[in-house]
Amino acid sequence: MWRRVSILVKVFEKRNSVITWVDNKPILVVKYGDNYYGMLAICAHMGGCALLTDVDGYVATCPAHQAKYDVRTGEMIEKPQVRPDVKCEYADVKAPLPTYKVRVTQDGFLEIDV
Ligand code: FES
Repeated sequence: MWRRVSILVKVFEKRNSVITWVDNKPILVVKYGDNYYGMLAICAHMGGCALLTDVDGYVATCPAHQAKYDVRTGEMIEKPQVRPDVKCEYADVKAPLPTYKVRVTQDGFLEIDV
């Protein structure tokens, strides 16, 4: 179901990503090339981080332990960096994050298919 969010595409003239909320879920929206991509903004590692705003191209980096995600697919493309001497029970978590289609309305807003 397509849901309109109150983000104008003009926002992407000055940045390449933004987080919005749909149905109480934080969704990272990234503009890469001419396309927009939506991905759940909660890191699969430890699950508590909704701050995947460090985006380079199509790669979003979690600020907590630097896990990297491909926003086009939700795949974790680089594991979290944890201290090797500390056992981390989440170190092997590699579930892809849910992704969402994003489109632009005629009046310049974004819609997300959730
Ligand atoms: S919480 Fe994101 S990498 Fe650890």
